[in-house]
Amino acid sequence: MSKPVRMGVVGTGSVAVRGILPNLICDDIQDSVNVAAVCDLAPGRAKAAAERFGAPHYFEDYDALLKSGTVDAVSLATPIGLHYEQGKAAIENGLHVHFNKTMTTTAAEADELIALAAEKDVRLVASPGQMLRPVNRAMRDAVKGGSVGKVIWATTGAAFGRYHENEKVRTGSDPLSNINPSWYYKKPGGGPLFDMTVYGLHTLTGILGPARSVTAMSGIRLPEREFMGKMYPVEMDDNTVILIDFGDALFGFVYGVVAGSFPVFASAIIYGTDGKIENGNLNGKPIDFPERATEAEFGWQSSLPHVHGEHLKLDEPHVYEDVMQLVDWIREDKPSVATAEHARHVVEIFDAAYRSAKSGQAQELRTTFEEID
Ligand SMILES: NC(=O)c1ccc[n+]([C@@H]2O[C@H](COP(=O)([O-])OP(=O)(O)OC[C@H]3O[C@@H](n4cnc5c(N)ncnc54)[C@H](O)[C@@H]3O)[C@@H](O)[C@H]2O)c1
Repeated sequence: MSKPVRMGVVGTGSVAVRGILPNLICDDIQDSVNVAAVCDLAPGRAKAAAERFGAPHYFEDYDALLKSGTVDAVSLATPIGLHYEQGKAAIENGLHVHFNKTMTTTAAEADELIALAAEKDVRLVASPGQMLRPVNRAMRDAVKGGSVGKVIWATTGAAFGRYHENEKVRTGSDPLSNINPSWYYKKPGGGPLFDMTVYGLHTLTGILGPARSVTAMSGIRLPEREFMGKMYPVEMDDNTVILIDFGDALFGFVYGVVAGSFPVFASAIIYGTDGKIENGNLNGKPIDFPERATEAEFGWQSSLPHVHGEHLKLDEPHVYEDVMQLVDWIREDKPSVATAEHARHVVEIFDAAYRSAKSGQAQELRTTFEEID
């Protein structure tokens, strides 16, 4: 076994402070990974995070972190619109990268990162690792095995609601609790598709496989949003509906909207000639998979490979799981299910949807991904 991976957490905002850092400092994984540095450009935030989580180094400048020689890998927990340029800079410096969702905002950006990572021989893991979930693999196997008969159509989607405005680290007064979420309304990278629909679309494509083409309508339904008594303009589409062609007249309906959603969050509903499957239930009855009893007792995240003990009491264990996928890949040369190629295909669907909504034309998709077990 090699030395622990020296991890740099970039962006010490909500997901880092609530989820990634508390999980990564747990005793059980210190032989595999250490938080070596944190980085955030907001004045005082990186220092405060380093103090709270015991990181030996902190940086307010990302390039300074990359050049510091203090880390082997980074977890990018910054706004989505920064992931491409920050990912590229990390790879160019020979660092492995975990992308919090979503990896990039265009398929061309993802192409470039995947090619550069191959050239530099570094590993990429992209959240959300939905197909790490045993329930999703069981649904895929059930659908492939004909449990719903011939698949006819499928759906997933999510609503923004006021989730980010209400997160507990946003309304305080110190650097780790006054984290403004208004980038979620801005371009590039804002909007409910990249933020929330990304979970269900990983599930849907993980079960049905890659799609062929996309048609969409999209726009801004709420021109302003309120946070802490101040109004912010919404610059990124917040209401998008997408039709997806999986080929052979198998269709999907996918959405990212301001409000109103029907599938279980992050799940997909697949309808066939013999019924429907959703969130591990076939026609209302649970399908069998070995981890079901564990999930029933300890919650759905307990069936993820690294989520046990202390991690079950902390926020966002599934995000921690994705970071550990990168750690294992680096140390044990064990490829992860949460591939950059799957993430790129999901990004291409969103990218194509926005182009389709603008042009009024269906958009052919060109990327694909391999299923990994
Ligand atoms: N908030 C959640 O519930 C959640 C859950 C899972 C994944 N994520 C993902 O995690 C990422 C971060 O989301 P968040 O909600 O924590 O955002 P956030 O706004 O709470 O935190 C982002 C942090 O990045 C910092 N930052 C901005 N530009 C920077 C730069 N150039 N260099 C260094 N730091 C910079 C900001 O100062 C801020 O502290 C996103 O990819 C998001 O999709 C968020």
